[in-house]
Amino acid sequence: MNFRQLAGIVPFPWFMGVRDVSGRLAVYPPNRSFYMIKVEGLTKRYARNVAVNNISFEVEKGQIVGFLGPNGAGKTTTMRILTCFLPATSGKASVAGFDCLEQADEVKKRIGYLPETPPLYPEMEVAEYLEFVGRLKGIDKASLPSRVDEVLEKLSLVPERKKLISKLSKGYRQRVGIAQAIIHNPEVLILDEPTSGLDPKQIIEVRDLIRALAGDHTIILSTHILQEVEAMCERVIIISQGRVVATDSMASLANQMRGSESVTVQVDGRGSGAPDENQVRQKLESVAGVARVSTQGSKNGLLTFQVDSLKDRSVRADVARAVVGAGWNLLELHTASLGLEEIFLQLTASNDGGKQ
Ligand SMILES: Nc1ncnc2c1ncn2[C@@H]1O[C@H](COP(=O)(O)OP(=O)(O)OP(=O)(O)O)[C@@H](O)[C@H]1O
Ligand SMILES: [Mg+2]
Repeated sequence: MNFRQLAGIVPFPWFMGVRDVSGRLAVYPPNRSFYMIKVEGLTKRYARNVAVNNISFEVEKGQIVGFLGPNGAGKTTTMRILTCFLPATSGKASVAGFDCLEQADEVKKRIGYLPETPPLYPEMEVAEYLEFVGRLKGIDKASLPSRVDEVLEKLSLVPERKKLISKLSKGYRQRVGIAQAIIHNPEVLILDEPTSGLDPKQIIEVRDLIRALAGDHTIILSTHILQEVEAMCERVIIISQGRVVATDSMASLANQMRGSESVTVQVDGRGSGAPDENQVRQKLESVAGVARVSTQGSKNGLLTFQVDSLKDRSVRADVARAVVGAGWNLLELHTASLGLEEIFLQLTASNDGGKQ
């Protein structure tokens, strides 16, 4: 039996020291936490203002996590600490098991960061700038041109490769910002409002790109928009006034919010035999489980209502049946998503949101 066969049947002693690819003595399991990102009791004070107040959370390898919160919540501050741009006042943050304060070089190697304002050089051409960043990030000379091409392709920037960054529109600059964050194929991506300033088509493209990067990469992205998190993230960390008010899977958060349902209904009010606003409202109010009906407007004879259910009641099917049963044309029926503010109110009103 040779060594290979033996290695196959004898469990590898997990405490054994071996040489890693760079020839360094490494101890297995490596000194890396299971969590790719770990934040423990992190606080950041600016003079008397507490931007981040004793927050803790973890992100597993390969996850996309949405960092959701209103203006001034502390999202950017947390991201700047994770990317070693800012020291914390107290607490700890680590990336891939490396401390953001004491092992900043190791952290920076593993991170791609898209700041709120991407660090672009306006006098450089797009491809030239990406080559420049690639060199800074340690990509070897031989593979740099193909890597730049790949990233330009991914961000649909090929036609812009020779353009001066100063001549780009805001949305294209944002794309270049994302390109510089991923050029060295980092393990962890920290994206501060990645779709800000993009048009709807670009938003969809960038969301698809981010989703495609998940799995191999661990991603935290910040946003104000719940739908954005729903579209991309498995987990959400909601922060408000420097505190984590919820950290949950999207599915479970949606469940929590499902207490009562808010349904938008549109009925055709045009032509003979069609109902007027009052008739529809009365019909909707008579449906079992409906708490409230409010008129959203009647434009060009299209009558739109918002129907809120009682807690823990689902009324969609009965609403549809009532409208169709009355012989009216049901043009639209969908569950309206709750706004960020409503979610905050629900989270903080019930049980203090599990504040830490
Ligand atoms: N350099 C600074 N000096 C003083 N206070 C600051 C500084 N940077 C941020 N703050 C304060 O810290 C708090 C958190 O700011 P931060 O930029 O982290 O919020 P944010 O969640 O990213 O908000 P936005 O959605 O507007 O980007 C705010 O009250 C802000 O005024
Ligand atoms: Mg911010």
